[in-house]
Amino acid sequence: MLNKKKGLLFLIVSLLFAFVLVGCADDTGGNADDSNDSNVDTTDEVESEDNDTSSGDINVGIVLPTRDEPRWVQDEQRFKDALADSEYTTEILFSQGSSANELQNVETLISRGIDVLIISPHDGDAAGAAAQAAANEGVTVIAYDRLITNTDAVDYYVTFDSFAVGAAQGNYLIEHANGTNIPLYLYAGAASDNNAFLFFEGAWSVLQPKIADGTFVVANSSEAEALADKPELTRDEMGRILGQVTTNWDPNEAINKAQTHLTAAGDDLKGEVLILAPNDGTSRSIADTFATDSDITSYVITGQDAEKASIQYIIDGKQSMTVFKDVRQLVKDAMGMAITLLDGATPDTTGSYDNGSKEVPAMQSEVIVVDQANVQSVLIDSGYYEASEFTGLD
Ligand code: GAL
Repeated sequence: MLNKKKGLLFLIVSLLFAFVLVGCADDTGGNADDSNDSNVDTTDEVESEDNDTSSGDINVGIVLPTRDEPRWVQDEQRFKDALADSEYTTEILFSQGSSANELQNVETLISRGIDVLIISPHDGDAAGAAAQAAANEGVTVIAYDRLITNTDAVDYYVTFDSFAVGAAQGNYLIEHANGTNIPLYLYAGAASDNNAFLFFEGAWSVLQPKIADGTFVVANSSEAEALADKPELTRDEMGRILGQVTTNWDPNEAINKAQTHLTAAGDDLKGEVLILAPNDGTSRSIADTFATDSDITSYVITGQDAEKASIQYIIDGKQSMTVFKDVRQLVKDAMGMAITLLDGATPDTTGSYDNGSKEVPAMQSEVIVVDQANVQSVLIDSGYYEASEFTGLD
């Protein structure tokens, strides 16, 4: 209350002072308009335009991979919600699936004076150049959700437990399978994204014994079949499997792959099937493709990200599960780290990730499996989504 009164008084005094100044300037023929331009207060600014040209210093720059996937639009919104009352200035830019755009975004943010960069790379290796550009200017680099690989220029990593994401997907398939010789279709994310390997590694850790003992039969990857006896795969071995079953995180590529696999599959690989889909966008398109094949009698399919469209698919029985990653927590961790750094202190971390060049100190969050049984309690009752955003919830 007291502060508000003081603030009002200060405002009145400032206005009077400005009025007198303008009056003086007019009297002397000077240009009063120039006087305040360099002191534009950008406090609380949250920009999301790709080509922002406004002036003023920014404390924290945020670079996200693409607006084309709802996952990252979700992150943008959660950043905006979290920053609504912040005293720090931030700007959010999207790289639209291009490492060149990403580098340009980082350079733009550096020129606007950022001290901390929060970045989720389009391509983990290629983003090393952007991280290096930031580090050269003394900017602290926080990798967000996706690790930047093979560079020393990344300082911290905030992430979910990505191995656990894949293990949860694999376990869900195991728990919802009946019998033996069940066809298993494997799909994966983009090989340029370190997470795609972690998700696959987690899934393989639980699926491999079931493949080795004949409970499951891999339907669409000769490389995975050849490695069926290996509980742990090298990155190179996983790379070979990904080479056959990657979606590149692209729903259209996922449809094309699924169509090709279904066309090639004989009757023994149809009927009741299991599908490891790496995230929600690809899960919906693979599910739609399998649903149109009359020889597929039922399928269990995984997902990830709790995208709204997939929550509706789960309610409707078209997608079996998703792995919910509470983006509110990730944003809180990333901004908490940034603010600690701006205050000149060292942020807390809970472990580290080897990025091929160094051990990157990391802060990791847990994930939650969501299906029809708990969608209401986990996503609606917790306030993450509104019930009114869906149909068929009771
Ligand atoms: C991953 C991310 C996932 C998913 C995917 C596609 O790196 O962890 O949540 O969205 O990219 O963008």
